[in-house]
Amino acid sequence: MGDLLALIERQRAGWTLEADFYLDAGVAAAENDAIWHRRWLFAAHGCELAVTGAFVTLSIAGEPVVVVRGRDGVARAFANVCRHRGSRICTAASGRVHRLVCPYHAWSYDLDGRLLSDVSGHGGQAETLGLRPYATHEVGGLVFVSLADRPEDIAPLDRAFAPQLAPQGLTRARIAARASYRVEANWKVVFENNRECFHCPVAHREYIRANYDVHLTDPRRAEEIDARTAAEAKRWAELGLGAPSLVSDMTSEWYRINRTPLVPGFVTESLDGKPVAPVMGDYPEHDVGTLRVTVFPNFWMHGSGDHAVTTRLLPDGTGATRVDVAWLVDAAAEEGRDYRVEALQPFWQLTSEQDWTICENVQAGLRSRAYAPGPLERVKERNVAQFIAWYLGLMRANRA
Ligand code: FES
Ligand SMILES: [Fe+2]
Repeated sequence: MGDLLALIERQRAGWTLEADFYLDAGVAAAENDAIWHRRWLFAAHGCELAVTGAFVTLSIAGEPVVVVRGRDGVARAFANVCRHRGSRICTAASGRVHRLVCPYHAWSYDLDGRLLSDVSGHGGQAETLGLRPYATHEVGGLVFVSLADRPEDIAPLDRAFAPQLAPQGLTRARIAARASYRVEANWKVVFENNRECFHCPVAHREYIRANYDVHLTDPRRAEEIDARTAAEAKRWAELGLGAPSLVSDMTSEWYRINRTPLVPGFVTESLDGKPVAPVMGDYPEHDVGTLRVTVFPNFWMHGSGDHAVTTRLLPDGTGATRVDVAWLVDAAAEEGRDYRVEALQPFWQLTSEQDWTICENVQAGLRSRAYAPGPLERVKERNVAQFIAWYLGLMRANRA
């Protein structure tokens, strides 16, 4: 790799990155410092932690983390590392406990991380031997975690997300289906692919029938799209849902939330456009377009009137990404009676899996000696350029 700062500085704006960014262990270690062990990350859904003591574990670039719902209703994240001799404490992916008990010598911690065991035989100091806490913030049913000692101010994200997420009802939802993947591609390949729909006509037959993304630059569709946008703007204003936005640009550097109209005939993101579950949250009807959420570096969501689909990325070594996709419906909806997973899942399962194939093809090319950075399309791939600029900015700041 050589000098990382020199590598960062010689990247050309508007072009893809050099291969080292996707292959090199030294770059990945620097990313952990600059991004994965520092930035706010989507960790869990609030509804997975619906009851006191419910927990979820995850590995953030090698750091074991547990997020648990406290007796006071607050979700808190801790290092999932025992203060006695370092054992992992919660070994399941999720569960419910009265207290966090280490499986090695049974030191136990309260849900707020305080050590409860008598450690007088170990030199005492129980008050200094609590679990290491991490910054945690829950907004609209999404739980974010930062491993930083001094995390970035999340208040602006909270202000943007809280009102927009409220009608989606993620706090009163449940996970109806999940799919987890180990995608053989660096996490940036996966996020870069998410940031453009240039590939959609080639890869996503189902997605483009429901969404306007790829048609925005087609002059033949301009009149139809303008009319649809104006009509939806009027209708949503009456429903109190705010104005539609057709663009998927990030509204600030690292997060965005906006609502986009669906193509007429689609009231939700399902294969045939018909409802796949009862209306969720506070939505007054099925057709509320799509509430789109993106948070760099590891989260995106599409919320329909009857369900929401979230995607969480976590690096799994330099050349692979763990991806967890979840389908959420109203908590009161019952499988078989109100919805069928076979109808709920395919739209985003197909779209996601089409994307993972693309990403794995890219990663294979990045490993080739023949790979060299290529030019991004100025309009259709502008969000990829923006993602890369965001990424390089953080890597540079961490190095400087
Ligand atoms: S390592 Fe956890 S109790 Fe000993
Ligand atoms: Fe895609």
